[in-house]
Amino acid sequence: MKVTIVGAGAVGATCADNITRRGIAHELVLLDIKEGLAEGKALDMFQTASLLGFDTKTTGSTNDYSKTAGSDVVVITSGIPRKPGMTREELIGTNANIVKGVTENILKFSPEAIIIIVSNPMDTMTYLSLKTSGLPKNKIIGMGGILDSARFKTYLSFALNCSPSDLHGTVIGGHGDTTMIPLTRLATLNSNPISNILSADELKKVAADTMVGGATLTKLIGTSAWYAPGAAVAALVESIIKDQKKVFPCCVSLNGEYGQSDICLGVPVVIGKNGWEKIIDYKLNAEEQAEFNKSAEAVRSMNAVLDTL
Ligand code: 2OP
Repeated sequence: MKVTIVGAGAVGATCADNITRRGIAHELVLLDIKEGLAEGKALDMFQTASLLGFDTKTTGSTNDYSKTAGSDVVVITSGIPRKPGMTREELIGTNANIVKGVTENILKFSPEAIIIIVSNPMDTMTYLSLKTSGLPKNKIIGMGGILDSARFKTYLSFALNCSPSDLHGTVIGGHGDTTMIPLTRLATLNSNPISNILSADELKKVAADTMVGGATLTKLIGTSAWYAPGAAVAALVESIIKDQKKVFPCCVSLNGEYGQSDICLGVPVVIGKNGWEKIIDYKLNAEEQAEFNKSAEAVRSMNAVLDTL
């Protein structure tokens, strides 16, 4: 299977590095507009093949989409990342045109591709790519919830002094500092509900830390994170390519599910060879549903900005 990563910045290159290390695809193309950047990073990455034991044919291209022809999965990371103090939503003016153009260029050579959107504001960029592509909705997947859930499990592991791998925790809603919803009620430590272990205040703090998990890193690093985003994309790509049917929270097009329509928003979905294959109803309680509706309204208002660009 062939995977293309558009954008060879920190996030895109880390996506590519994680995918090659896992030996998920037979071919990976890294594409960027900056002269030589993707070629250089791809060559450097392939020089690890004999050391790490993978055979993925890894190449780079400077803005030549013909090299991406026949891709089964395309990951769009291109656009500018946020700076300290910025929200993801502030990137819309620059990133919307980039994501629209990349979507159009990809489809010229890979009309059957499954497209994964990472560029921010991710929920709105996913909606834009869906509308631009005209692809079946199952082929457009926004990656945000997997990353936010990994951060949720990280903060839970700090609070519980346990292995993050022993935790199940899901974040739904938007991929925004104020729009994401860590589902603390449903989180478990090896089937033991977290609410049996942590107090309500401790759970509130874990949820609050999760919501600004990306902003916390941007403040420390000076730009957006890339290790966890790259690993999150690789897990998503692997479930598609190996048809693993894993359940991940992803930003997908809703048509009445979770009470919302004509929007792309994070919900638990089954991920397999056809993209997102089924939306799973976690049966939100009234408070969680109210938060989800509020999140949807915030994302919808961002989507409306697209018409003004
Ligand atoms: C993050 O939260 C880049 O949106 C991504 O780190």
